Amino acid sequence: MNILLLGSGGREHALAWKLAQSRLLSGAEDKFFAAPGNPGIAEHAECVALDAGDHAAVAAFCDVNRIGLVVIGPEAPLVDGLGDTLRGEGISVFGPSKAAAQLEGSKGFTKDLCERAGIPTAGYVRTSSLAEATNALDKFGAPYVLKADGLAAGKGVVIAPTRAKAAEALTGMFSGVFGGAGTEVVIEEFMEGEEASFFALTDGATILSFGGAQDHKRVGDGDTGPNTGGMGAYSPAPVLTPMLRGEVLEKIIVPTVKTLADEGMPYSGVLFAGLMLTEEGPKLIEYNCRFGDPECQVLMMRLEDDLGELMLACADSKLSSCPPVKLRNETALTVVMAANGYPGTPEKGGAIEFGEAEEDGAKVFHAGTSRGQDGTLRASGGRVLNVTALGANATEAQAKAYAAVDAIDFPSGFCRKDIGWREVERETGRAKQ
Ligand code: AMP
Ligand code: GLY
Repeated sequence: MNILLLGSGGREHALAWKLAQSRLLSGAEDKFFAAPGNPGIAEHAECVALDAGDHAAVAAFCDVNRIGLVVIGPEAPLVDGLGDTLRGEGISVFGPSKAAAQLEGSKGFTKDLCERAGIPTAGYVRTSSLAEATNALDKFGAPYVLKADGLAAGKGVVIAPTRAKAAEALTGMFSGVFGGAGTEVVIEEFMEGEEASFFALTDGATILSFGGAQDHKRVGDGDTGPNTGGMGAYSPAPVLTPMLRGEVLEKIIVPTVKTLADEGMPYSGVLFAGLMLTEEGPKLIEYNCRFGDPECQVLMMRLEDDLGELMLACADSKLSSCPPVKLRNETALTVVMAANGYPGTPEKGGAIEFGEAEEDGAKVFHAGTSRGQDGTLRASGGRVLNVTALGANATEAQAKAYAAVDAIDFPSGFCRKDIGWREVERETGRAKQ
């Protein structure tokens, strides 16, 4: 079969690496394309210049190249309905429809769905009026949680410590700092607890658990400094005990999938639930309609199954014939190496040399790289590399990942030195007992 993967980040490099091992691509005639891809993805797929925003061009490419499966990595083309256009052409697509992708595309949509389905989440007010939003602040008190409704490249959430700062942030949202994403807002009750992510594959009827992960969103060691897309992640997340995973499935994932199907917008693809583990049990923070980045990188390191076959089964509503997803019983941990300046203005063009980083089984996924005219590898984004390793536990995976980081020469880059600290601390505490 011919496969097209859309995207260009570390998540897509991990998907490309795993898809390249699929039986779907094992025939001499099978072709694997990626658009636009990156130098890491180019080791597995033929990278082509295609704009995922141009639905007609993607459909035409699929037609000419007899593409049997399209895998959509990032959220923007999903929220924009690319999946619907391609399905309309009879192509199998991994990723939800435009209607179902509202789970990520509209925070208000998800909160209303939680209310209809009785899914545990923070109390909220959804409004497009600044006056009503300002009044809603007093309903929940400090700290204030304000969210722009639409996609805002991960920047649409403000947690304000004081009412004055919250009111100021609301004024900014309504005056367009997040573009169209902020013309409607959600004000939420603040939830306390530890955060974890849970992933599930679904074709709208069958649900397969895809494991848990935890990431580090702040740029600095000790979880300090501004928010980023994620500076590192690990999987599994033992805080998500088997009992909690069961509760998440039963109280959050199953009712979401069922309600969307009952309401005529069945969800197909990967459902990524951001959770707060509160004293009252797990509650939904938000949904994403795609794999997390960098959570995907650690999940792919652990996946023992054929990713292509799983994605095709999802796309073709045949997940009921698949056995439970098998993940290695090891910990995978990834450290993001970012360009100096990230998450502000990252320095572009810095030279990168891998050295012997991959010698001991570590895997370096390309997130924001390009090749210079002379073939040398250069930084071309904020998050540049995802240095990923497997170990018997988080402590071992962390040591291996940082050994690989040390082997990389990337003078204009930096990384956090403490990815996985919560889990490593818990493991150290257990070892001392
Ligand atoms: P997001 O950018 O949507 O992933 O949200 C950013 C972060 O804001 C989340 O990872 C949480 O740390 C925090 N957050 C969002 N909603 C709440 C809430 N209701 N209570 C506490 N923290 C929240
Ligand atoms: N790492 C969080 C995300 O992909 O949204």
